[in-house]
Amino acid sequence: MKGMFPRKISVLVFLLAGLAISGCRQSMDQSKTMSPGITVSEFGVLPDGRIASLFTVQSASGMEMRVTNYGGIIVSLTAPNRDGKQEDVVLGFDSLDQYVDGSPYFGAIIGRYGNRIGKAQFSIDGESYSLAANNGENHLHGGIAGFDKVLWDATSFSEGTGHGIVFTYVSPDGEEGYPGTLSVNVTYLLTADNRVVFSYEATTDKATPVNLTQHSYFNLAGPSSDSILSQELTIPAGHFTPIDVGFIPTGKIESVEGTPFDFRTPTSIGARIDQDNEQLLNGLGYDHNFVLNDGSANLKLAARVYDPESGRIMEVTTNEPGIQFYAGNFLDGTLTGKGGHIYPYRSGFCLETQHFPDSPNKPSFPSTILMPGKLYATQTIYTFSTDAE
Ligand code: BGC
Repeated sequence: MKGMFPRKISVLVFLLAGLAISGCRQSMDQSKTMSPGITVSEFGVLPDGRIASLFTVQSASGMEMRVTNYGGIIVSLTAPNRDGKQEDVVLGFDSLDQYVDGSPYFGAIIGRYGNRIGKAQFSIDGESYSLAANNGENHLHGGIAGFDKVLWDATSFSEGTGHGIVFTYVSPDGEEGYPGTLSVNVTYLLTADNRVVFSYEATTDKATPVNLTQHSYFNLAGPSSDSILSQELTIPAGHFTPIDVGFIPTGKIESVEGTPFDFRTPTSIGARIDQDNEQLLNGLGYDHNFVLNDGSANLKLAARVYDPESGRIMEVTTNEPGIQFYAGNFLDGTLTGKGGHIYPYRSGFCLETQHFPDSPNKPSFPSTILMPGKLYATQTIYTFSTDAE
């Protein structure tokens, strides 16, 4: 896995490998400082006895990110409002048990394939593969036990002004139906200039689809807010991929011009979400992939969200060709989140950078097949600022 890091990363401390790998039950009640800016404590015990850790990463500017190696889940992430007040801007749970019992992918690493694969099957070079149909007849977010349910090995590191965690996992050949042994590194880096940098790397020994992403649900108005609908979204995409009633892309790439999918100028999420539009009806609101591909593999702005109430701004840059904007349409008030806060309908949004859904079955979409000897490497950055800057 060493060669998978082209960037210079100084790994300061090797954390918890013994605990995570052996799964032995040891007490980690005390929070320990692992390296500057990072402490670790026990988050909880999985049903099989393995211990999940909770890493608290502090930035010099005052942001704090708490992450567990169960699913690589971002449990909390603070960002300053226009008065400098740090508040948690992601949805999640207080306990590991709640994540294990049933989470709509709150804050997790998604793999091997973020988003859906139609009819839970695909073929490569004439060989067909069947995956778990965990979303109607389709496959969603890597299957029944996707990367969101993996206990990742975790290592802390510092780079430049930031501190972060490297998550590693080797997904065995055949896991969830996918071919090839897939070695994966995902890093989260919190910087002093209020950025969270996600870097994804993978290698395989057989051709296999890979589409890794991060599934944090945001509400920039803070933890007591019940709605995202007044938050203003910009997506500089002229096209999106329309879907059928099973949320599978039709294969067309359509212009956003004159549709409720035109976010090229800042528009509140709620302004058009309930319009009588076939695509909004199919998606039960916004749950669509926007086409960012400008023909380059450079980092580019993929989305910007502004909360007029708090003044918070979040920008998403990525070198991925797509971004899924999901408006929390399946949140229905049945989940009790952090601090006892109940998450109502559309109280969090996701902006999942990705290749397009169902690409393994859509030859016209950019390929998601990773070949042996090739390095999968993508990057996405969330940058936080305010309207006071
Ligand atoms: C998908 C939604 C899905 C949600 C699950 C999103 O990435 O686009 O359709 O319901 O994940 O929480």
